[in-house]
Amino acid sequence: MGEVFIMDHPLIRHKIGIIRDQNTGTKEFREMISEIAMLETYESTRDLQMEEVEIETPITSTTVERLAGKKLAIIPILRAGLGMVSGMQTLIPSAKIGHIGMYRDHETLKPVEYYCKLPADIEERDVFVVDPMLATGGSACDAISLLKQHGCKRIRFLCIIASPEGLMRLQKEHPDVYIIVGALDDHLNEVGYIVPGLGDAGDRIFGTK
Ligand code: PRP
Ligand code: URA
Repeated sequence: MGEVFIMDHPLIRHKIGIIRDQNTGTKEFREMISEIAMLETYESTRDLQMEEVEIETPITSTTVERLAGKKLAIIPILRAGLGMVSGMQTLIPSAKIGHIGMYRDHETLKPVEYYCKLPADIEERDVFVVDPMLATGGSACDAISLLKQHGCKRIRFLCIIASPEGLMRLQKEHPDVYIIVGALDDHLNEVGYIVPGLGDAGDRIFGTK
């Protein structure tokens, strides 16, 4: 089973409370998604490699650490994953961005892929797949399988709300993927929505309903 980190921090808990509220408007919803994604990025980059370099401070010579320049890529699952990108870029601005387009068929709840554009050297990069919602887990599992077909080996998955069903499926199908979750919810309802959840993340980010 893949490793999971559930964010348990007052700032995240507060911001998730705001996005669950149906009275939160599009602007604030989008800002909160971006900020939560930034905090999750902070947590999920703890293991980035460092290297030592010699520098001069105004006082003396010393050795400091800097990131070892590992190549990163952020891959949002369209549409809702797009809402997480700006917050992530605040912390890892040199990451390349790829896009995977998927929507859930409303009858079968199975994901349908409609777009894929990845950085040319994706197989060399540490990949952050992002989508606010992990419901049945179908979209995340298929997106990660697609990335593995393109040669990706080091993959993290960041979501904001997960259902127990989706989390277990992702852990089983992709045990090598490190999963970062903002909040683990109670269950999926009969039409595949997370309960208590926040509704349709894409519609709330883009104001389409
Ligand atoms: C939502 C969400 C995930 C997917 C999760 O997207 O953003 O991609 O559902 O559900 P799953 O875990 O059961 O696959 P949706 O299909 O609504 O598409 P959209 O982002 O274009 O609105
Ligand atoms: N997709 C969403 O946007 N919300 C859910 O609750 C489930 C899937």
